[in-house]
Amino acid sequence: ARLVVLVSGAGTNLQALLDACADPEYGAEVVAVGADRSGIEGTARGVRAGLPAFTLRIPDFPDRDAWDAALADAVAEHRPDLVVSAGFMKILGARFLERFGGRIVNTHPALLPSFPGAHAVRDALAYGVKLTGCTVHFVDEGVDTGPVIAQEAVPVRWHDDEDSLHERIKQVERRLLVDVVGRLARDGWTAEGRRVSMKCRTC
Ligand code: GRF
Repeated sequence: ARLVVLVSGAGTNLQALLDACADPEYGAEVVAVGADRSGIEGTARGVRAGLPAFTLRIPDFPDRDAWDAALADAVAEHRPDLVVSAGFMKILGARFLERFGGRIVNTHPALLPSFPGAHAVRDALAYGVKLTGCTVHFVDEGVDTGPVIAQEAVPVRWHDDEDSLHERIKQVERRLLVDVVGRLARDGWTAEGRRVSMKCRTC
């Protein structure tokens, strides 16, 4: 399966996918990396892997819709089977969704529907939950609201700050994302409404 991965930051989830794709059994290959901002390690990881990497910044476009359409065109050029939003910090708009809807997965560092949005780890800490985690889900028109594919819990430690908790979550998140993308790539999936059933050999 051809993957286009969208990043906005360090790209450690992207790196985990790149490493997994090195195994021919995994069944997927990253064919391009897209970003919404320049100068990030995520893009550099794609370039180092010899991949096409593109950056589309919203300020460079007349409006949000134009950016959304341009992003959809840039992604479509690489003929993805699956678009993976791995730490991508922009909401994908209607134009993008009509092009790739149902074939976009996102990873979120909280147990949705708890703590959606751009500050999930900070919000979980502020709330004082003792258990948080990460979610891999299909992207729909909402913010972190699409059908859940996989989740895993991560304990909060009393000394945690946002960075230490986020790092512990990311350890789990990378493994969860690699597992889900591999299963989607190899075995396909069905998502009737909010029900996601994974046909897979091992689970
Ligand atoms: C991940 O935890 C992702 O869920 C969140 O931001 C982080 C991105 O990490 N949106 P990286 O850029 O993949 O290292």
